[in-house]
Amino acid sequence: MTRARAPGKVILLGEHAVVYGRPAIAVPLPELLAEAEIEALTRGPSGEIWIDAPDIRYSARLSETASDDPLGLVLRLGRRELGLGAHPPLHLSVTSAIPVASGLGSGAAVSVAILRAFGEHFARPFPADRLSELAFEVEKIHHGTPSGIDNTVIAYEQPVYFVRGRPIEVFRIRAPFHLLVADSGRPSPTAEAVGAVRREWQLRPQHYEGLFDEAGRLAEAGRRAIEAGEIEALGTLMDRNQTILEALALVTPTLRNMHSAARAAGALGAKISGAGLGGNLIALIRPEDSDRIAQALVAGGARRVILTEVR
Ligand code: PMV
Repeated sequence: MTRARAPGKVILLGEHAVVYGRPAIAVPLPELLAEAEIEALTRGPSGEIWIDAPDIRYSARLSETASDDPLGLVLRLGRRELGLGAHPPLHLSVTSAIPVASGLGSGAAVSVAILRAFGEHFARPFPADRLSELAFEVEKIHHGTPSGIDNTVIAYEQPVYFVRGRPIEVFRIRAPFHLLVADSGRPSPTAEAVGAVRREWQLRPQHYEGLFDEAGRLAEAGRRAIEAGEIEALGTLMDRNQTILEALALVTPTLRNMHSAARAAGALGAKISGAGLGGNLIALIRPEDSDRIAQALVAGGARRVILTEVR
């Protein structure tokens, strides 16, 4: 039996603008994991893989999956990458604590966990760059026009300064900082939010390009703040990014309440993370304020709050 894992992620600054070539910053979220387990079976047709993902009530045989089935596609890509011909029948089990369609990278984490388990099962683990590239192929099904930030931060498991089409840049975190990750309880498929922004961008390109430029500048400034250990400055940048996400019409009333509640309770800054229209809010906090701000987030509408340290 071979087991492998991959973390979720949050976007500190720059989502959506990153689809249009601006920089963004993302960090892994090791508190929430996707896990894949591969087991060789003694009976069954050669090359067959039975897939079970009980969290999403999914059960299928690889040979019966459609070409755009994300789990089937991951396995086909993994198999092609290894140049595998016939192999003994396998069972793949996938579990994930990362809520689906919530801006936490669940799709990319599941892909990376499966590819890791698959490579390790055949004693040929994939390097991070290939994990990321293969997971990106699957992201295209989930997202339509993904920037590639999710598969990158999750495959490398490091904070990244990401610009679409450019080699990955990791950077140094001078002083660790703490985030509360608060779920609004409303799933929101990334493709829908990305599609909504694209339609508006097509109608008013200049206005939207201006918003994306500003988000890109915030990501650049955020990187400098993190490298200098200026955490309060990072909080201010997150709030400014939230204002842009409001202008992109991605903030729901619940997420707006949660933002106000976190700020009123002493968060240094807060914003939605990921596609928006639902999903999660992240709040930058001092660790001693964690309980108070988590309670305020719940009172403001959050269904679940997780504390993470970014190092
Ligand atoms: O998968 P999510 O919801 O974290 O969104 C990814 C971030 C976007 O910028 C909205 C899309 C992308 O491909 O970068």
